[in-house]
Amino acid sequence: MILSMIRKKACRRILPLIIVVLLISIWPLPTIFSQSDDITIDNKNAASTESRTGVEFPHAIHTESYDCLDCHHDYHNGENVLDEGELEEDGSAACNTCHTSSATIDLQTAYHRQCMTCHRAVNREPEFDLPITCKDCHPKELSDG
Ligand code: HEC
Ligand code: HEC
Ligand code: HEC
Ligand code: HEC
Repeated sequence: MILSMIRKKACRRILPLIIVVLLISIWPLPTIFSQSDDITIDNKNAASTESRTGVEFPHAIHTESYDCLDCHHDYHNGENVLDEGELEEDGSAACNTCHTSSATIDLQTAYHRQCMTCHRAVNREPEFDLPITCKDCHPKELSDG
């Protein structure tokens, strides 16, 4: 009886410490480098005729859940050889460097495939309802004014 009271007391003292240690260890690392929070993706050459307004892309919430190289790549012999450290400086993050109109995968397809493949997969979890329809990402067409 007395022994168990002592344990409870010790527990109460240690608990806050455990919580602090836990919080530090799960602190989201990516927020430490604070690159590009919210981006509006609005290329002038995403398609041969531009019919949609720019697309809001909350970059930061994506980097909390995924690695840079899940989305950014430079393929050689099917292998992603992109150096993550270069993403900030050399423009290798820009999709339009490689996905030009003459590429196997043109720019519009590159975005659509990357965004939608992932959102569709995530939406299989009932608690998610990520953008998937045209209007979700393109709230209006240019002709809407
Ligand atoms: C879920 C996919 C995804 C992840 C994960 C991701 N990015 Fe991006 N990032 C993009 C897309 C899409 C763009 C827009 C590129 C474009 O339109 O040319 C972008 C743009 C950028 C840009 C250009 C910034 C700007 O304002 O135009 C940089 C730099 C960048 N990313 C670095 C990173 C780094 C570093 C990480 C990892 C910490 C990362 N990205 C993780 C998809 C992603
Ligand atoms: C350095 C060049 C380069 C850049 C920059 C680049 N890609 Fe790619 N991407 C490729 C190559 C090469 C392939 C392989 C298919 C091909 O030959 O066109 C590919 C394939 C893809 C694929 C299909 C395979 C896969 O990995 O899912 C998607 C989707 C894609 N890119 C989207 C994007 C998006 C979105 C961006 C910008 C965040 C981007 N790419 C930036 C070169 C690039
Ligand atoms: C690798 C997976 C992945 C890719 C690729 C991806 N997303 Fe997401 N996206 C997510 C997840 C997961 C969330 C929810 C994140 C959260 O709530 O913490 C999300 C959230 C969003 C949201 C916020 C939705 C809301 O309900 O608040 C927008 C907008 C969005 N994504 C747009 C895009 C666009 C545009 C692209 C392509 C350029 C893209 N995403 C590519 C996984 C992805
Ligand atoms: C998950 C987000 C997402 C969804 C869903 C989506 N798109 Fe897009 N779409 C993009 C992004 C990102 C771009 C690149 C925009 C830019 O660079 O201007 C784009 C570009 C385009 C473009 C060419 C560029 C322009 O501005 O006209 C057209 C056309 C387009 N989308 C039509 C559609 C249609 C039709 C649907 C429904 C079948 C759809 N999109 C669904 C994200 C999305």
